[in-house]
Amino acid sequence: MPTDLAPTDCVPPPPEAVAPLMRGLMLLRRLTDADGVLSLSELERTTGLARSTVDRITGTLARMGYVRLDGRDVFLAPRLMELGNAYLGALGIPGLLGARVDALADELDESVSLAVADGDGIRFVHQATRRRAMSLSFRIGDPLPAERTAPGALFAADWAAPDWRRWRARRAADPRDTGFPAGPGVVPGVMAPADERAAEEAFAARVARAAECGWALDDQLIEPGLVALAVPVRAADGGVACVASVVSHTSRHTTESLREALLPRLRAATAAWEEVLARETPAPPSPRPAVGLADWTHASKQELGRGFVESLARGLTVLTAFGEGRPALSLSAVAEATGLARATARRALITLEHLGYVAVEGRLFRLTPRVLALGFPYLSRLPLPQIAAPHLAELSRRVHDSASLAVLAGHDVRYTARVATRRIMSVHITVGTRFPAHATSLGRVMLADLPPGTRAAQLAGMEPRALTPHTVTSGPELVAVLERVREQGYALVDEELEQGLRSIAVPLRDRTGAVVAAVNVAMHSSRRTVEECVAEVLPELRAAVTRIEDDLRTAGRFAHVPEV
Ligand code: PHB
Repeated sequence: MPTDLAPTDCVPPPPEAVAPLMRGLMLLRRLTDADGVLSLSELERTTGLARSTVDRITGTLARMGYVRLDGRDVFLAPRLMELGNAYLGALGIPGLLGARVDALADELDESVSLAVADGDGIRFVHQATRRRAMSLSFRIGDPLPAERTAPGALFAADWAAPDWRRWRARRAADPRDTGFPAGPGVVPGVMAPADERAAEEAFAARVARAAECGWALDDQLIEPGLVALAVPVRAADGGVACVASVVSHTSRHTTESLREALLPRLRAATAAWEEVLARETPAPPSPRPAVGLADWTHASKQELGRGFVESLARGLTVLTAFGEGRPALSLSAVAEATGLARATARRALITLEHLGYVAVEGRLFRLTPRVLALGFPYLSRLPLPQIAAPHLAELSRRVHDSASLAVLAGHDVRYTARVATRRIMSVHITVGTRFPAHATSLGRVMLADLPPGTRAAQLAGMEPRALTPHTVTSGPELVAVLERVREQGYALVDEELEQGLRSIAVPLRDRTGAVVAAVNVAMHSSRRTVEECVAEVLPELRAAVTRIEDDLRTAGRFAHVPEV
């Protein structure tokens, strides 16, 4: 079963449906199922669209920052996560409970996840993952069939006859779960019972037990070795808001030992989370200024002509009208938030509803968990070096010198991404290369940002070595240098690491303002004077870092972005 089909699978689109929006969404789904990248010809093949249509749609999505074109390849881009963020913000649960779930995972030293119901399946909305050998873990936005998970049995405890009918229909249409491309490692149907009657009876028995006990187990239903224990987290109205699972491995727990050891603690935690949900008064819908969409689409159309599909851009923008404190919106509210004409917003909403991305209750529209299928699982695992790489390439292209990303590792900096132009160092720098932090621009911006106590302790333990006759090695002098770097917001290091090498760096901050890495441009000293370096390179460097920080802010809103 193709995964872009809505519950309304075979229902033809309503006459008002916006065809380019449908095509754009299909293309994003194909890219998601292919784990983030397809060539233009592969897109043409898997979508069945004409090449010219694929070109126009990808061009429009690239203009929106939702995909990146690199030669013949199309990559999902972090900015696309703003759609999933709109859903997760509107849902409210990850924002309210995410940090508490992370704390429970730390306390139990096991992975803990939150899932919501999505039709007859489940979809993860938060993951606090302990990384271990042998353990597979699902990502935010991954869908799984209800019958092969612990949370699914708890959701199905509330199913009525039509829900069971829908479930049976899906099983009949897709017995091997090919409609659940849950990411690397999942073999469709590998643990499924051999015959359909046995499968149905087994699930019905688990659902009855879940209804009776208020918890459910997964004994390797989805993956050999994976065991899970789940309990519901109820909203103030008594309905199941989400299900929390503790996930372990058979090398550590059986389902029985998991239940005996951890059920009381999981229940105590979820009881506290239910109070958090009950206490939470809905945030007042923050007035969302219309984003100048009309001007932006007009300018894009002027520039790209036929290559820019306005109706696609407008339709996708409708999804971003929702968010924190804006979980359910009327047509007028959507039109107002996006600056779109009512008729345009209405057609987009009708299209999105037809495809299952939006649900309607009376006069109000809501986003559904399916919005997470637009790139979120793949993008939520993208590490910082991969987020930064295209921006470093662009920076390097603009200044014609090498650009790098590094983190602080003890007394050293360690390179985590690099785009090199020409060889200017006597040593070859690759990802993983380390240099003493005190003698590099990258290290200095990161040292400069440390809290005074930590910085003093770092410097005290460092014994800075002279790498050239110019290296600053005296403690007090280094302190003064770092103070200046902190004030200026950049570091320029001139022949202190290697003779003939000059580099300039700025810090890279995450959404909380913490410095998580640094970016530099390095060049041969003959290329530019120190003054030219500041006048010409620094603005480009800062602009590139702002773009990386924007992506990091979007990516890190509900997901944990790995730093390396
Ligand atoms: C998870 O990866 O969080 C997970 C997997 C299977 C379950 C429950 C949770 O049954």
